[in-house]
Order: sequence, then structure tokens, then C-alpha cells
Amino acid sequence: MKGHLVSTVPVIAGRDIALPRHVAIIMDGNGRWAKKRLLPRAAGHKAGVEAVRRVTRHARAIGIEALTIYAFSSENWRRPEEEIGDLMGLLRLFIRSDLAELVRENVRLKIIGDHRRFPKDVVALIDDAVARCAANTGPILAIALNYGAQAELVRAAQRLAERLPPDQIDAAALESELETRDLPPLDLLIRTSGEHRLSNFLLWQAAYAELLFVDTLWPDFGAADLDAAVVAFGSRNRRFGGL
Ligand code: IPE
Ligand code: IPE
Ligand code: MG
Repeated sequence: MKGHLVSTVPVIAGRDIALPRHVAIIMDGNGRWAKKRLLPRAAGHKAGVEAVRRVTRHARAIGIEALTIYAFSSENWRRPEEEIGDLMGLLRLFIRSDLAELVRENVRLKIIGDHRRFPKDVVALIDDAVARCAANTGPILAIALNYGAQAELVRAAQRLAERLPPDQIDAAALESELETRDLPPLDLLIRTSGEHRLSNFLLWQAAYAELLFVDTLWPDFGAADLDAAVVAFGSRNRRFGGL
């Protein structure tokens, strides 16, 4: 199954390539970007937010229906308190500075993961942001916050066990309990910074996603890199087990 055809972006125009409907990104490499510049890690995260802005805008411009970005994993609590505080501060800033644009651009904002463990004021900001985008009908931006795929699957299994006898539990039932249930199937999963692992991100959803690992550090990732990823996706031969 391929996505629809795209011709809205110069680099992709005329190539008749399939556009992924749902792209997910493991935004990695902020710390190393900062280290290379002899800057504190927080500066890397700040530059990472600018990359988020560029890439989410460009994803909308080329017509990607859903973008899921990994912003904070359930394992990231292992980081020093100060760094977690910096990340929370940037999340506050991002919502304050970019919410109006998301509302105006008709973006459906979704949170996956359990953001309720974040500081109270951040939880309130996030809930307000989601509410203000609730009537939107356009592209989906899903932000993974305190997200872990194993916990997501455990919760899904628990809910299924409560409402269904074992012989009625199948893949479709399980998918209906995942936090991505309203999103199109995951087509393309990108990880930046040269690491080749999933780090507990979208484990179920990635079953037939195309995986793309790029060396670019997240703060350096931009529109051209997303275009290149989309072109690479278009050249993959997805067989889904068939011929
Ligand atoms: C990704 O960059 C951002 C988060 C995990 C929040 P890192 O902070 O993991 O950067 P590196 O991997 O140390 O370079
Ligand atoms: C994955 O990056 C999580 C996010 C990008 C939010 P990490 O940098 O936390 O992953 P590991 O620790 O290298 O696996
Ligand atoms: Mg990392």
C-alpha cells in the first residue's frame, strides 16, 4: 500500500513518489550538537526546538498527514534533574510561542505518553494547548511526552483483559487501545544522530514502517533532510510479507 502522490515541493515535484502519510521522528543528538560547539547541553535542546519548528512546518507544507515526534521518553527521567528542568522550560516556551501558529494552521495536537508526571503548570499548558486545537481538522502533530512503547502495550493489554475474553483479543483490538489509534498507520520512522535503535518508541506501530537512520544531529535537521527522507521512502519497495 502506498500513500498518495505529491507534487507540492520542488525537490519532490514531478517525481511521482509516494508520500508517507505518517512519519515519526526520534529527535536525537542535541547533546552531541552542543558538545561539538563547546556549549552546554541545554543549548543543544534549544537548537532542537528550532529544528522542531522547521520540520513540523515543512511536514505540513509537503502534505504529511501525521507527524509524531519523540520529545521525552519514559527513560529520560534517568537524566540529571537540571537537564530535565531545562527540557520542561523549553516545552513551556515552545507552547507559549508556537500554540497560536498551531491553532491558526488547523493542526490537530495530540500527546502520547503520560505527560501527567510533568510539573503541574506544564501539564496545564499542555492540556490547554490540546483543548485549543481540539476543533482543528488538519494535519496531526503528535508529541510523545514521557512516552514508552512497552508501557503503552502493557496498558493496552490490561484494558483488553478487562473487556474481552482471551479468544476475542486480536491485533485490531490491541491497536484500538494504542495511543496512536486515531493516526494513520506509521509509514516512515526516522532517527537522527547515527544511533541505530528504537529506544522504546512505537514498537508495535513500527512493525511495517520503513526505518531510516541518518547521521545528522537533530538540531541540524531541516526541510531538505525531511525531503531527502521522503524521497528515500518513495524509493523503498514495501512488500508487507508479499512478493
Ligand atoms: C535528544 O537529544 C533529545 C532528548 C532525548 C530529549 P539528546 O539529549 O539525547 O542528545 P545526545 O544523544 O546526548 O546527543
Ligand atoms: C530517545 O533518545 C528519546 C528521545 C529522542 C526523546 P535518547 O537519547 O534518550 O535514547 P538513548 O538513551 O540513546 O537510547
Ligand atoms: Mg540521545
